[in-house]
Amino acid sequence: MSENSKFTAGIITASDKGSRGEREDVSGAVIKELLVGAGYEVVGMKIIPDDENLLYEEMVRLCDETGVDVVFTTGGTGFSPRDNTPEATLRAATKNAPGIAEAIRAYSLSITPRAMLSRGVSVMRGQSLIINLPGSPKAVRESLSYILPSIRHGIEIMKGLTGECAVKPE
Ligand code: MTE
Repeated sequence: MSENSKFTAGIITASDKGSRGEREDVSGAVIKELLVGAGYEVVGMKIIPDDENLLYEEMVRLCDETGVDVVFTTGGTGFSPRDNTPEATLRAATKNAPGIAEAIRAYSLSITPRAMLSRGVSVMRGQSLIINLPGSPKAVRESLSYILPSIRHGIEIMKGLTGECAVKPE
């Protein structure tokens, strides 16, 4: 990666209704807006039904074929029978990266106790990160704004672009 090139991102919205064109993809658009604002290039954006296999296949395609640095998902992290995003993400994982999902929940709990109802996970697949965000546009904006400043440093370390932590312990 040259000094001027941007990190690349893929966005997956898990939504049965959205995939049938019955609902506008507001949450995916919010992710895109925040990523572009933070200097990422969004190279893939899809609405996929809440089906574990289809979600898994799109994650693998974005990581292995497109080679994105990070995949953000929105939706499908709750308790309903059709919420399958964390299961698809865990299947795609080559390494766990639980701190990002922990950070999302910890911050979100300061906004609403219902944050405990998100089962979202965060993992690595090879040299790509996959991060589950909740479904609502409000929750997406809150969660992503909180984690984005730290994600860039994680990607740099994952890709071997830096070995140094900018913030040193006292
Ligand atoms: N996180 C933040 N930051 N803000 C929110 O409003 N809503 C919660 C939670 N996380 C929320 C949040 C609610 S109500 C639910 S049910 C879960 O995310 C799961 O959301 P999902 O099923 O849309 O993925």
